[in-house]
Amino acid sequence: MAGGHHLVLAGFMGTGKSTIGAALARRLGRQFVDLDQLIEEREGLSVEAIFAQGGEDAFRAAEGRALEAALSLQEPVVLALGGGTLHEPASRARLVAAGVRPWVLHLDEGARRERRAILEIDGGRPLLHRYEELYRARATGYSRWGEEVDVSGLSAEEAVSVLLARLGGAP
Ligand code: S3P
Repeated sequence: MAGGHHLVLAGFMGTGKSTIGAALARRLGRQFVDLDQLIEEREGLSVEAIFAQGGEDAFRAAEGRALEAALSLQEPVVLALGGGTLHEPASRARLVAAGVRPWVLHLDEGARRERRAILEIDGGRPLLHRYEELYRARATGYSRWGEEVDVSGLSAEEAVSVLLARLGGAP
């Protein structure tokens, strides 16, 4: 099945999907696709600008289209989702149809608090003001719709090693 072997990383804002995904792709010799970046390239707008112009609905529609495009790539890639992708029923259905069960990066409370402080400084995340509310609302979905991997306190390279061990050498 086309796209059936993509390796997909999910998880809340700031869990390290992009950094760990890029490192994992390097280690596997695969292309890395960052969904937020793909959305920005396709729309010619930053995530922030899409939210500002069309609200979350416009962003989720663009996200769904970009996800479809990424999953249609013939070569297996490493794909990092956005923090909310897995919680959109249409996007979830696209992942299921592609035969993909995402790896969900998880942080413990201490690590999460540290990352949140960094995100506040970084800027550019339109839903950051709803961080705690969204985290609580999404927690059960992440564990239901993906395989959780605790990456608290790990460097990107250490997280990659943990992921590769969980993959059992057969991604
Ligand atoms: C979002 C997370 C962001 C980005 C958008 C919406 C969310 O991705 O897709 O701002 O709903 O949690 P990151 O998880 O990479 O920050």
